[in-house]
Amino acid sequence: MKSRITKAIFPVAGLGTRFLPATKAIPKEIMTLVDRPLIQYAIDEARAAGIKEFIFVTSRGKSALEDYFDIAPELETSLRQSGKHELLETLKSTNMESGAIAYIRQHKALGLGHAVWCARRLVGNEPFAVMLPDDVIAGDKPCLQQMVEAHAETGGCMVAAMEVPASRTSAYGILDSQDIGGRVVKVQGMVEKPAPGTAPSNLAVIGRYILTPKILRNLGQIDSGAGGELQLTDAIARELTEGRDVFGYRFEGQRFDCGSKAGFLQATVAFGLARPDLGAELSQYLSDVMSARRAAE
Ligand code: UTP
Repeated sequence: MKSRITKAIFPVAGLGTRFLPATKAIPKEIMTLVDRPLIQYAIDEARAAGIKEFIFVTSRGKSALEDYFDIAPELETSLRQSGKHELLETLKSTNMESGAIAYIRQHKALGLGHAVWCARRLVGNEPFAVMLPDDVIAGDKPCLQQMVEAHAETGGCMVAAMEVPASRTSAYGILDSQDIGGRVVKVQGMVEKPAPGTAPSNLAVIGRYILTPKILRNLGQIDSGAGGELQLTDAIARELTEGRDVFGYRFEGQRFDCGSKAGFLQATVAFGLARPDLGAELSQYLSDVMSARRAAE
């Protein structure tokens, strides 16, 4: 079935406090996983899923992110003159067609839900995707593409879901859901950052969503939730109380939480090991380091 999902919102207006002092000057999304900024992984995933319009919700201090998608005529001329055609090709993935990219400001970091709401006038009447670039997902088929295909069958709202340890549920939006076959679950309830011991399951929402425009209306009507922020989870949960469908999709692939230091380091190792030009050297280094540590113990 032909997908109607052509727009994606990238909320990138958060303060990124877990990476201070780096994020004082560098947007988190520009931090580099091997040799590409986090945002490039999200853009590639979006393109693979058929996204044509990219809406960034930004804030003060994010100009490096906007610059990243500009063409660089002097750099390109210099690479061409020196015959560095492979590098020229690499640069192409950073180019955006004129008009395909839009930036909206979130003036205050009032939460993920508020960031999405800031893009309401650009979304229109079709379902749209929301992607959090902090969540980098490695897998054979890009996560959003898996979801777009499943959504073509289910309609409604859909969130990416994965099992997390019980000790971690209070850090996520958690689903109360029922298996309905394959990777899709039907959501009956969802709660943002449940207090320890109160989570309805271990199935957590991570940063990929396909949403209907009703979510934007809900965001305009609900109050702030957990942490005093306007929560996207609460706006999606409202769909359930109004009798509309919400699905979870247990995606295939490995997700790295690049919004945390440990997750970013793990992703760096995993993506480095997977690179044909770096994997062998990195693997040797890691095994040498581990042997030296064991010998010292
Ligand atoms: P996080 O919860 O990771 O917050 O936001 P953060 O500010 O980026 O990072 P920390 O926790 O201070 O280290 C999840 C996503 O929602 C966006 C962030 O940019 C990130 O992509 N977000 C969050 C906004 O766009 N606006 C907000 O007000 C809050």
